[in-house]
Formats: sequence, C-alpha cells, structure tokens
Amino acid sequence: MDDNTVIIGEIKRLLGDRPHLAYVRSFGCQLNVSDGEKLKGLLKKMGYGFTEDESAADLIILNTCAVRENAEDRVFGIVGSMKKLKELKPSLIIGIAGCMTAQSHVAEKIKKSYPQVDFVLGTSAINGLPRLLLDCLNGARFSADIAEYDDFSAEVEQVRESSFKASVPIMFGCNNFCTYCIVPYVRGRERSRRPEDIISEVEGLVRDGYKEIMLLGQNVNSYGNDLGGEMSFPQLLRRLNAIEGDFWIRFMSSHPKDASTELIDAIFDCEKVAKHLHLPVQSGSDEILRRMNRRYTAEKYLSIVDDIYSRDPDFSLTTDIIVGFPDETNEDFEATLAIMERVRYDNIYSFIYSKRTGTKAAEMPDGISEEEKGQRMRRLLEVQRGISTEHYKRFIGRRMRVLADDVSKKREGYVTGKSSEFIIVEFEGDSSLIGQFVEVEVTEAMNWAVIGRRIQK
Ligand code: 5AD
Ligand code: SF4
Repeated sequence: MDDNTVIIGEIKRLLGDRPHLAYVRSFGCQLNVSDGEKLKGLLKKMGYGFTEDESAADLIILNTCAVRENAEDRVFGIVGSMKKLKELKPSLIIGIAGCMTAQSHVAEKIKKSYPQVDFVLGTSAINGLPRLLLDCLNGARFSADIAEYDDFSAEVEQVRESSFKASVPIMFGCNNFCTYCIVPYVRGRERSRRPEDIISEVEGLVRDGYKEIMLLGQNVNSYGNDLGGEMSFPQLLRRLNAIEGDFWIRFMSSHPKDASTELIDAIFDCEKVAKHLHLPVQSGSDEILRRMNRRYTAEKYLSIVDDIYSRDPDFSLTTDIIVGFPDETNEDFEATLAIMERVRYDNIYSFIYSKRTGTKAAEMPDGISEEEKGQRMRRLLEVQRGISTEHYKRFIGRRMRVLADDVSKKREGYVTGKSSEFIIVEFEGDSSLIGQFVEVEVTEAMNWAVIGRRIQK
C-alpha cells in the first residue's frame, strides 16, 4: 500500500482543485458489486467524486461480468456507445475492469476494436488502479493490469452503496470447475480471508449501524480449507453470530456437495443467521449433474433438503438452474421440473446455458436448438410461478420481521423489504422506515411477494 500512497498523492496533485467525477458501473454478481465499491474506495482517496451520469464523468469504469454471453454483449454495446462521449470530451478516461478482462481473447478484442478504452484492470488487481490511472493521466493510450492475484485488494476500504446492507467477501476464487463455468478461469483458485479480518470488518459494520451482513464467496462452504483448518464456515457463522447487536447474517453461495450437517446446525442455532438457504441445484438429472462436474446426485441434494425440512417444514430455499446444458434431453429437463416440485423453492434464478470459451462444456456436442431451450425456459418459469403461488400462502397470518429497503414502486404509500426468509414483503409505510427492522403480519400472498400489515410496537 505504501507504493499506492505515493501514486495516489501524485494523482491528487495532477487532478488539482477542479472537482473530478467518476462513473463506476458494476455488472453481474454481488462479489463484483463489492469489487466496484472497492474501486470507488480507491477513487475517493484520489479525490474523485461520483456521478450517475456518464456524460458528466471525467472517468468511466465498467466493472464487468463474464458468466454469460449476454452480459458481455451488453458491455460491448455500452463501450461502443462511449466512443461519442470520448469525441466530445477527449480528456475522458475509460477503463474496463472485472471478469471479462481476465479472458485474454476479450482483452485482445477490447484493445483492437475499442480504441476509446484507455485501460483494463483484472479482477484481482484492484490495487493496480492508481498506477493505471496515473499512466493514463500522463498520456498513456492503453495500459493493462491483469496481473497477479492480489489478496490485499480484500482490505481496500469501500464506498458502500447502502448504509444498512453490506456485503463482506470472505473468500475469492473457486476450485470447483463446474464444466459450464468461467469463474475458476477468471477469478483463480480459492483464497480465504483471515478470520480476524472478517470479524473486525463485521464488528465495524455493526457499530456503524448496518443491519444486514451478506457474506460472499463462490462457495462459502469451502471457506478456510486453505487456512489449515483454523476455522470452517459454520464456525465463522457462530463466531459472527456472537457479535453483539441487532443484525442479520446472510451468505451466498453454498455448493450442495459441501453443505454439511454442521452448516445446517449453525443456521438453526444462530439467531442472527437468516432463515433462508440459497442452494444452487443447476439440474435435477444425475447425468447432467455428472457432465456439469457438480459432484452430487439429485438424491444427495434431496437428503440435504430433507434434513432442513425435518427441522422446519416451512424453511425457505432458493436455487439456480441452468436450462439447455449441452445435449440436455427432455427427460433430463423433466427431472429438473420434478426436483423443483419436490423441493418447492420460494424462488429460482434460472439461466439458459451460455457457452463460455475455455470451459469443458464448450467442447461438448450440443444438438438442442435455441428455440427448444427458449421453450424449456418458459415452461420452467411457468412451473415455478405455480409453485410460488401455492407456497407463499403458508406465510398468510404469520408475523415476519422485515428489513425495509425502499418505497414500493408498485403501490403508492407502501414500503418494500425482505424478510429473514428472503421473501419480498410490501406494507403500508413511508421512507422514514427504510433501513429499519419492521414487524409485519402477512395478510395476502402473491407469487413474487407477500403483502402485510405493520404491527406497531
Ligand atoms: N451459462 C448459464 N448459466 C451459468 N451460470 C454459470 N455459468 C453459466 C453458463 N455458462 C449460472 C449458474 C450459477 C449462476 C451464478 O450462474 O446457475 O449458479
Ligand atoms: Fe462456477 Fe461451479 Fe465455482 Fe460456482 S462452484 S463459481 S458454478 S465453478
């Protein structure tokens, strides 16, 4: 960091007294959003202010996602349209950060076809931002830092988007190599943060009044495997639960192959851990799961679900599902619908398979047409709508604790929030409730949210 302090001082001197504005936009998962908050943290130190308006910006950073092709296409579209901005304001600096840049063919494409881009910054090179910016301010046309995994990035101070919900990355990278997934290639192997760093960050956030702490990792269940058994994820949950204060702990994502009884025990034992588990199943077909290299069967997955339901039959589960994996047959797809019916998820995040260059699945033959994949997706969503419509009724008459998030965009005079179960709850109220816990009695259920009545204490 010493090195950066000098560079940041130099940048401040170059920027002078005129206010400089940065537009930072993050795409994709919450880990990426968290990286975006760190980029902002560094920019703030350099003296930048922030704007939501690209045309007012002196610096634009697009913090990109590479998980699916449509996310990449969107970024290319946006970068293309920024050519005009640069013509109007030649001093504008444009940088691309995040997962897209870690694929060499994409970095090459940016360099060749998008001359308006001044620099690219890799996912693990957040601390390289000051150096790149200084080069650009000194007139360099294209620079890149997609270098080494830089674990110190973990400790960069963030400019947080919310004053009551905070994400805390607990680990970086992934060792699982699911055959469809680009993440292990763009984010490298698993690296866990030190438990004491995580604990003191969460203590600080709680002191600052944060009400929801979201622990992030590609597979939080393997937290600590690289720390020599010092602390496992369930142990970390218990330790964080012991921090004094009124707040919730959430976490994401949890690989079913590593979802242990200790994890489920911790969720049920710890009163601050939200009563919701996101457990990505991806497919209900054993053959597809095998070809995805998920390392569990539908039966093993269901044994975890049954363990949870035996403790609380109303427990809330959500999942990720991929439709149209290479050569997915109709029977495979039906098996996915069957597991959805069996588990009765409160919500699913479903994606049409997207071929990612460099992954194993990209080499697999795929005879399924895009049209067929689209039809399956529509059917899947329809089935889930039916499940949610029925399943949400179990909340009617129940009291829920809700963290109010925002004013409702759908109902005048209503506020929206999430319950501990990760269910959207809307109730009458005004913006003064935002960021607070509110007790609500559920009066009505829909397939995407429930409506409730605020209980005055
Ligand atoms: N195509 C479609 N969906 C994908 N995901 C990851 N890689 C791909 C891909 N190539 C989905 C998985 C994962 C979620 C974050 O994104 O369902 O759990
Ligand atoms: Fe990708 Fe699988 Fe790792 Fe999740 S666990 S990031 S899907 S490789």
